[in-house]
Amino acid sequence: MSDIILKTMDLTKKYQNKAVVDGLNIEIKRGEIFGLLGPNGAGKSTTMNMICSIVKPTAGSIELLGKNPWKQKREVIHRIGYIPQDLAIHGKLKAWENVELFTSLYGIKGEELKRTVEESLEYVGLLEKKNEFAKNFSGGMKRRLNIACAIGHQPDLLIFDEPTVGIDPQSRNFILEKIKESNKKDTTVIYTSHYMEEVEAICTRIAIMDNGKIIACGTSKELKELVSNGEEDITLEEVFLTLTGKSLRDSIG
Ligand SMILES: Nc1ncnc2c1ncn2[C@@H]1O[C@H](COP(=O)(O)OP(=O)(O)OP(=O)(O)O)[C@@H](O)[C@H]1O
Ligand SMILES: [Mg+2]
Repeated sequence: MSDIILKTMDLTKKYQNKAVVDGLNIEIKRGEIFGLLGPNGAGKSTTMNMICSIVKPTAGSIELLGKNPWKQKREVIHRIGYIPQDLAIHGKLKAWENVELFTSLYGIKGEELKRTVEESLEYVGLLEKKNEFAKNFSGGMKRRLNIACAIGHQPDLLIFDEPTVGIDPQSRNFILEKIKESNKKDTTVIYTSHYMEEVEAICTRIAIMDNGKIIACGTSKELKELVSNGEEDITLEEVFLTLTGKSLRDSIG
C-alpha cells in the first residue's frame, strides 16, 4: 500500500464566492501526527469536513487512502475515524449506547459490537461510567465520549478537530496521551487546533493555516528556522506572529 494516506490537490471551498479554503496542497504520510494549526475562521474544520465527505469541495481534489472519498465513499469511510469539533454525542443516551450507535454504523454486530463498545469506553477511561447519561457528563467526559464513538471500528486514520477545547488540563493531557498511544499502534493522525503547545507537543509535522491557505509546513524545528535568523529559543507563537501578523492567543474555542 502507498505510504501517502492523504493528499489534497488545490482543494478549495467557496461560500458566497469567497474562498474559505483556498487551493490547499497537503500530503500526509502513514504514521504521522500531522497538525493543522490556525486561528478561528482559518478554514480548518471546513478542510476536515471536505476530507471526511461532509462538505463538498468547490474545486480541487482529495486522495484519501489511495481513493477519491467523494466517488469511493464506501471504501474509505470505515477506515477513518472523525472526531468533530461540535460534539456528536446524544445526551439522552447512556455512554455505552452512544458508542454502540456509532460503532454499529460500521457494520460491527453481536458479540464483537459488545466487546468493541467496552474496549472503546475503557480506552477513554469511561468504562465505569458506561451506564450514565451523556447529558450528565462534564465537558471533558463528553469530549472523551466523542472520541470513543469514533475509534471502535479501528480506523487507519484518526482526524481530531479541536478535541481539547473547553476542558480541564487533566482531561487534556489524557487525550493527548491517548493520541500518542494510538499513533504508536500504527494509526495516522490529523490534529487540528489553535493551541500551539499541544500541536508542538504531539505533532511530527505542522501546517500553519490562515485565511484558507497553508502559509508554512514542516517540523516545529523547520518552522522556527524559517523565521529565526539564527536566534535560538523562538516559539511557535512567534513564528505564527511573524508569518501572519496575528496572535493565535486571540483565538477562542
Ligand atoms: N456553511 C457555511 N456557510 C458560510 N460560511 C461558512 C460555512 N462554514 C464555514 N464558513 C466560514 O468559513 C470560514 C472558515 O470556517 P471554519 O469553521 O472552517 O474555520 P476554523 O479554522 O475551523 O475555525 P475555528 O477555530 O473557529 O473552529 C469562516 O469564516 C466561516 O464563517
Ligand atoms: Mg473549527
